[in-house]
Amino acid sequence: MIRVPELIRRKREGEELGSEEIFELILAHARDEIPDYQLAAFLMAVLFRGLSRAETAALTDAMVASGATVDLTGLGRPAVDKHSTGGVGDKTSIALGPVVAACGAPFAKMSGRGLGHTGGTLDKLEAIPGFTVTLARSEFVSQVSDIGVAIVGQTPDLVPADARLYALRDVTATVESTSLIAASIMSKKIAAGASTILLDVKVGAGAFMRTVENARELAETMLDLGTRAGRSVACALTTMEQPLGRAVGNALEIREVIDTLSGEGPTDLIELVLSCAAHLLAMSGLAASVEEGRERALAAVSSGEALRLYETWIARQGGDPSPDVLPEAPVRRLVAAPAGGYVASLDALAIGEASVRLGAGRLAKDDPIDHATGIVCLRKHGDPVELGEPLAEVHARDKSAAEEAQRAVACAYRLQDDRPAPQPLTLQVLSG
Ligand code: URA
Repeated sequence: MIRVPELIRRKREGEELGSEEIFELILAHARDEIPDYQLAAFLMAVLFRGLSRAETAALTDAMVASGATVDLTGLGRPAVDKHSTGGVGDKTSIALGPVVAACGAPFAKMSGRGLGHTGGTLDKLEAIPGFTVTLARSEFVSQVSDIGVAIVGQTPDLVPADARLYALRDVTATVESTSLIAASIMSKKIAAGASTILLDVKVGAGAFMRTVENARELAETMLDLGTRAGRSVACALTTMEQPLGRAVGNALEIREVIDTLSGEGPTDLIELVLSCAAHLLAMSGLAASVEEGRERALAAVSSGEALRLYETWIARQGGDPSPDVLPEAPVRRLVAAPAGGYVASLDALAIGEASVRLGAGRLAKDDPIDHATGIVCLRKHGDPVELGEPLAEVHARDKSAAEEAQRAVACAYRLQDDRPAPQPLTLQVLSG
């Protein structure tokens, strides 16, 4: 019988654990044989002490082994997948799936829920009335085969250990560990079966990785895990100093995805979607180069093909693709500029936290999400603004929540007299 306090103590002392010990611990927890409080203590020890490459590989393998895996080889074409390490306003995958699928690359993705101050793709998709993120494995595969795109959640069937650990980490301040993030992401990627994987490693105030050095370490750990599993993997390091796009909050972000697929989205989001699509098309051999991939992705948006595919996909997973049916918050309040000038910075962490307090994310593991609430950042880094003009709009469930968010959002903006230098979106691309 596994002696959990002993394992926790040894990890707390910085010892390297054996692969079998990690396997036993993770699988016993997934089977409910170990209580959450012991796993939480183990996770905290890992957060402080870290895991070696071998331990991280064992953790990833154990998480994959906690459930079934998807076999996508029957598609006859290499399936692609993309995953972000978590940011604020990051709805890229929801727009990217239909774009790459319209270019001939089947997009098969298993996704997660909001974690800490960052939003989750599944929570965003569930803002769409009727949409289900729970598909049986066979339905997932046949949907990818029929229409070219599916995004699902972890089910009891697929990487159940990640679903348990992810929810626990979210409420025990144990998210920001390179090994835990790498194992969580790569277990889902490996189990979901795609052979070509692009990882978007977010760096900056609103990301779990605050520095380029930490982001590189995470990227290299994930490249290592992907290569071990025989997948073609690349990592883009992209900035997360300010929210991506304008909308933060579930239904608001879905609306922004629809705008983006209609060719009217915010420039940074369009840029990231096209860049991710370009890399995936080049990596899977559907484009001769990244530049050609970008042109094909742009054509899929301009022709309306990507938007049509989005509508087909949403309907196939039970949702209503019309923006008119998305929930709307009853109270909206503008945040006015306290002076004229340019936006020098917009703190993604502060916006993410304010959005969680509005109900768009969870403070406790089983909190319900309010899909209608959130923040629209009307001005972003480098934008000019006059005194009294709106910087942002808060979408709240009541007046007092709106007022609290207005104060928090006002503090997230820093204005200055001169136009600041533009910030690059993509910092580096690494491949395995
Ligand atoms: N995304 C995941 O899937 N897992 C993490 O731990 C962080 C971001």
